[in-house]
Amino acid sequence: MQQRTLSIVKPDAVAKHGIGPILARIEKGGLRIVAGRLLRLSRGEAEAFYAVHSARPFFGSLCDFMSSGPVFVSVLEGENAIVRYREVLGATDPAKADAGTVRKDFGTDVERNAAHGSDAPETAAQEIGFFFSARELAGLGVR
Ligand code: CMP
Repeated sequence: MQQRTLSIVKPDAVAKHGIGPILARIEKGGLRIVAGRLLRLSRGEAEAFYAVHSARPFFGSLCDFMSSGPVFVSVLEGENAIVRYREVLGATDPAKADAGTVRKDFGTDVERNAAHGSDAPETAAQEIGFFFSARELAGLGVR
């Protein structure tokens, strides 16, 4: 099943010159990059993006972190893209992530964990729409 998912290379990984290496891992993992942009989230945009976590104790700190510097947002496309990208990323907590995963190699802790990937088809569609319009998506697969 061809799918799309949203990726965010977070401020910690961007600061470590991780954009290129992480995009390379995405492509080596069999995913196509069909849209991409460097931007800086405002605090309000970070709050809106992570609204589903607004009741969690880490919400304020997460939004501070996500608006602390530039991020690289992209849309990835491929067979089972959501699960496939989550395998490339590894566990949310870098300390628990497998060797060779993005979060193991670029993450610092459960908050500063290098990159985000959508967790389900509904959230992927919503998250892609948060950053990109339909005409910005250049993939040849799903529409
Ligand atoms: P992400 O995949 O972007 O989705 C939600 C984010 O919240 C997660 O990655 C982490 O950056 C952050 N997060 C999740 N759990 C915790 C936690 N226990 N403490 C702090 N931050 C967390």
